[in-house]
Amino acid sequence: MSEHPPLPIARSVAALRQTVRGWRRQGLSVAFVPTMGALHEGHLTLVREADQRADRVVASVFVNPTQFAAHEDLGTYPRREAQDAELLAGAGCHLLFAPSVDEMYPEGFSTSVNVAGPSQGLETDFRPHFFGGVAVVVAKLLNQVQADVAVFGEKDYQQLLVVRRMARDLDIPTEIVGAPTERDRHGLALSSRNAYLSEAELAVARRLNGVLAEAAIKAADWRPLAAVEREAYAELLKIGFERVDYVAVRRAEDLAAFANGVVDAPARILAAAWLGKTRLIDNMAV
Ligand code: PAF
Repeated sequence: MSEHPPLPIARSVAALRQTVRGWRRQGLSVAFVPTMGALHEGHLTLVREADQRADRVVASVFVNPTQFAAHEDLGTYPRREAQDAELLAGAGCHLLFAPSVDEMYPEGFSTSVNVAGPSQGLETDFRPHFFGGVAVVVAKLLNQVQADVAVFGEKDYQQLLVVRRMARDLDIPTEIVGAPTERDRHGLALSSRNAYLSEAELAVARRLNGVLAEAAIKAADWRPLAAVEREAYAELLKIGFERVDYVAVRRAEDLAAFANGVVDAPARILAAAWLGKTRLIDNMAV
């Protein structure tokens, strides 16, 4: 038996706007947390952060097809709306926006959003379709909700910078806030895709953050970044990752490479690596 009244669900943009308009008429502020569902503690931390920042919280659950390539896991991405709604209600959410694909991308949809700058390199080198899909859906969601503030996880650090740049460039008035990555007790960054991991893969996955933390210490110690990145890359393969897409130390502000080959400004170490069919990403401050 649920401890919370059922969470209202808006399935259309019209229904979403009607609720938000009602709140606005009462002088209430609004925060927004976009998700693709299969919610875990990491998402709920974003909702709690949103709840601290505004009177009402909208969360969206939409598995956005435009950010998946044909060979990726769109078909098998976990979907469990009833459980998500229950968790959202418990974390302080007031409205779930769960549109259909047709509501978001009606027949004849023709617009793309291309954010250069922070989208270049890293994820884009391996998932060239990804930020185009994220930018278009987040631009739509931000316009649909028209919140005062939207909260994104630092787990997807490059995504956070892309969204922030897009909102600035397109004069979207919602403030974009980043919230720290939630980790399990072994330091593994929480992710909906962790559910794909076998026990043996999970044991390897839990060592990713340790390798990054060690590399971050070396980078902060002014060690040449090429060597730091090379060593971390080799270490990830040694501990059992089957493939490493990248390990890179970049400027935290815009993800540009350090021209001098050493850390001389606030930095972030970012990595993506594979265990079986599962691709994990993580990052941390240097
Ligand atoms: O980070 C995610 O879950 C997705 O990329 C987002 C921001 C909800 C857009 O689909």
